Amino acid sequence: MQEKIIILDFGSQTTQLIGRRIRELGIYSEIIPYNKYPFGQEKEQGIIGAILSGSPLSVYDEKAYKVDISAIANAVPVLGICYGAQLMAMSGGGRVEPAPSREYGRARLSFVDEACPLFDGIAPGSQVWMSHGDTITELPDGFRCVASTPEVRYAAFEASPTMWGVQFHPEVYHSECGMRLLENFAVGVCGASCSWSAASFIESTVADLKEKLGDDRVILGLSGGVDSSVAAVLLNKAIGRNLTCIFVDHGMLRKNEFSEVLRDYEVLGLNVIGVDASEKFFADLAGVTDPEKKRKIIGADFIEVFDAEASKITDARWLAQGTIYPDCIESLSITGTVIKSHHNVGGLPERMNLKLCEPLRLLFKDEVRAVGRALGMPEHLISRHPFPGPGLAVRILGDVTREKVSILQEADHIFIKGLRDSGLYNQVWQAGVILLPVQSVGVMGDERTYERAVALRAVTSTDAMTADWAHLPYEFLAKVSNEIINKVRGVNRVCYDISSKPPATIEWE
Ligand code: XMP
Repeated sequence: MQEKIIILDFGSQTTQLIGRRIRELGIYSEIIPYNKYPFGQEKEQGIIGAILSGSPLSVYDEKAYKVDISAIANAVPVLGICYGAQLMAMSGGGRVEPAPSREYGRARLSFVDEACPLFDGIAPGSQVWMSHGDTITELPDGFRCVASTPEVRYAAFEASPTMWGVQFHPEVYHSECGMRLLENFAVGVCGASCSWSAASFIESTVADLKEKLGDDRVILGLSGGVDSSVAAVLLNKAIGRNLTCIFVDHGMLRKNEFSEVLRDYEVLGLNVIGVDASEKFFADLAGVTDPEKKRKIIGADFIEVFDAEASKITDARWLAQGTIYPDCIESLSITGTVIKSHHNVGGLPERMNLKLCEPLRLLFKDEVRAVGRALGMPEHLISRHPFPGPGLAVRILGDVTREKVSILQEADHIFIKGLRDSGLYNQVWQAGVILLPVQSVGVMGDERTYERAVALRAVTSTDAMTADWAHLPYEFLAKVSNEIINKVRGVNRVCYDISSKPPATIEWE
């Protein structure tokens, strides 16, 4: 049984981060909604500890999310963070009140009880990160204060031999002692063995897949992206030729991408069918300018083409997808209802009457990459930038034609190759070129030109939710601009997009 730490999500923005930090310690963690704790099944499920997250709510709100903390602490050690700590204090009979002013940002520990196992090796003076509107003003009987800051008297407490609370956020990078504190809890208190790694994940997942899938046939849609590629290689290891991969070319991939990636897949030993369906996509997109309409047409065409190909495998029982953890963590709205539930290829499993297999659904992106490396996949497949499903269609403002796609492919190729050659590729999250619906005057040789403009887009990000424009060196931008104008017929002007997200988005459509 895989040992794990459970993180109970009360809706905080940093819940995912707690999960990540525990995984960084080499310990498997799972995030579940606060009201889904499997009481009484700790041994069966390998649960060795629980962490209660923060929340946008106040513990004294009528609608506050509650859980029976004592019942959990009777079975495994519990650490409450922010709201989680306040909930512990309040349930024990203490007092939580609005802070005189919202405490947000850095603070330094002024007092630390170093004999407390949670603070082993953490000295006064260490910086912690606060973000709370409420504060604990009175600890219940039997609770003991184990850390303070100048502003927050009860920055941490010990409630019983198996219960602790911290008002600050150890999961946040700015809490200098945060990792140490989480390690003290997970390893020192819960006794985690830190054996979670890419290799151990592969071993246990391959064994699980073998057992679950038996001799069943499985179909998987490859996109060329990291997630579907790693899922395919993992499944191939488990069930070999019983996996059939389908890679659809809608005609709006990058230059040579379809043939190159198809070759990569074949070298990896995958049983892959490449389908060139570009005629259909271009025909259905003709004259369409509205971005959402373009997306809808591409989505519907994709399902049709994929379905037609997949139905040739008449005995298929499963549809596999490269869904990853951030796609499926249920984030809670204030009312407690699930507001995000995501599937890569919406509607496909239902339509095809297949069971769903998602072997990466519990991994974060960097873990997917680590698994890919441990599976021996080539680095250029693993470290690829994200690329939108509708491809270059959403990077051509206005209607999409073969001619425009081919101009954009050339410009994009120069930009991306330039980033790779200059060692800048891995410093940006995502990059590409946008073909603008604008023509402008230029001069080439002695001739006046009236040609298209393109915009270069490169961003830094950690999750695509927010992004900053990448501060690429001027010399590099000059070189790329020069090469595009000289080599790509039909383009005489290059701009660089310096907008961050928000308020802009990464793509232009
Ligand atoms: P935005 O433009 O919303 O993009 O800042 C955020 C991330 O999502 C990608 N993206 C898409 N991916 N289908 C996809 O599979 C789409 O329609 C789509 N639109 C945007 C975008 O490339 C970026 O990584």
